[in-house]
Amino acid sequence: MEERKGFGSNFGFLMAAIGSAVGLGNIWGFPFKMGISGGFTFLVIYLVLAALCGFIVMVGELALGRKTGKGAVAAYQVLSKKFKWVGWLGIVSAFLIMSFYCALGGYCIKYVVLNFGNLFHAGFGSNGLDGNGIFGALMTNQVESVIYGLIFVVITLLIVMGGVGGGIEKFCTIGMPALFFMLIVVIIRAVTLPGAVEGLKFMFVPGYAVTAGIVEKAPSFMNVLSTAGGQMFFSLSLGMGAMITYGSYLDKKQNLEKNAIIIVIADTMIALMAGLAVLPAAFALGGEGASMAGPKLLFVTLQNVFDNMGGVGPIFGIIFYLLVVLAAVSSSISLLEVIVTHFVDKSESEGKGDQRKKYSLIASVLVAFLCALVCVDGLGSNGIWVPFQSLVGVRGFNDCWLDFFDMISEGVLMPLGALLMCLMIGWEIGPKVVKDEIEGPEGHKMTAYGFFNVCVKVVTPLLMLLILWGQIQSFFF
Ligand code: PHE
Repeated sequence: MEERKGFGSNFGFLMAAIGSAVGLGNIWGFPFKMGISGGFTFLVIYLVLAALCGFIVMVGELALGRKTGKGAVAAYQVLSKKFKWVGWLGIVSAFLIMSFYCALGGYCIKYVVLNFGNLFHAGFGSNGLDGNGIFGALMTNQVESVIYGLIFVVITLLIVMGGVGGGIEKFCTIGMPALFFMLIVVIIRAVTLPGAVEGLKFMFVPGYAVTAGIVEKAPSFMNVLSTAGGQMFFSLSLGMGAMITYGSYLDKKQNLEKNAIIIVIADTMIALMAGLAVLPAAFALGGEGASMAGPKLLFVTLQNVFDNMGGVGPIFGIIFYLLVVLAAVSSSISLLEVIVTHFVDKSESEGKGDQRKKYSLIASVLVAFLCALVCVDGLGSNGIWVPFQSLVGVRGFNDCWLDFFDMISEGVLMPLGALLMCLMIGWEIGPKVVKDEIEGPEGHKMTAYGFFNVCVKVVTPLLMLLILWGQIQSFFF
């Protein structure tokens, strides 16, 4: 059997893992949630949860992956009798998340092209439409949105076909620093716009969202806790095997504990930076009643911002949407890799050799169908049937396939996956397995073992239950 080829360096691993974590969640989820849920107070709660939950699950996943040297499904199968099926939840989540991630990533590519059109005054620019008009036209133009969605799927496929070291690591080692640099450029422009300070106040000052009339009343503490928790573990790509998979490709010599801390901190930092890039601009130039979250923030408000910026607008538009494409691609490759690693390992263990290209292609064809469905649906613009239609209008759930896939994956499967992993580590195989893996042959000391032990057994599972409940509630009730 050939040796399983993984990351070439710790830096490459970090860029890939941070790339997985940094995605649409950081850009359109975190800043707004922080703004409406108490500003700085939210940030403090988020950081506490990131330590008690995010860090614990991150360390756990990376250690399980590296210990077994296998993808999510096989890792659970090797380690536990009772929990051997949990890895499959990850595969299902990966397909579901990819379905809408690729659709949204495709829309971002469209906006890069559109801003190029504006730069050169070409026919494929805004053509006199405002943000609402552009997005509305894209949502109802099913052929165009499917084509862009599929372009995004193909980009993901090509990178994953290149393998972990040759494709994913190479892409992220260049892509993530580039993303960081572009983000700084956009932040500098955004915070120096006249009126930008409103956005900063909204994001940071506790209670400002209520004073400014953006939301009616402040959310309850429990509400803030579950919003922060839900955001935190989706943003860190936890509970669906992505970090198990990446961990399985990491060299035994590297320090997992330190890596986990770096990933958590970097992801939070980029979420804050994304807030500095989008909210001041949206407040300054987004127009009356602009949306500050979700697809409308990205595809309506911010396009209005670039259109209102004058001659340099299209240039910032291109930089910004390219940055979002990078964030989305580096996440979607980690999702596809969860699926591909499983089948590649299986075929290796059956002596059929590494069939990465074949499995990447098969998985992508399936993703392409799901993604096309999300695109054809156009966020519910085109009257296509969606399951659970009776829930429509009952809070968070909109009448569209994107929300349906998101509800099952982010709302149920991911928190459930993280909860089950903690229970397995805490109560079946024991936290010492994680400690032994971290201390490994190099003799790194696991400094936070006492903390990990208490959290993984009691604190994290309880918090995960709360988050799971909060997620289900926000989607269903
Ligand atoms: N972390 C990504 C984001 O913030 C989403 C994601 C979840 C990516 C799970 C991979 C796995 O957008």
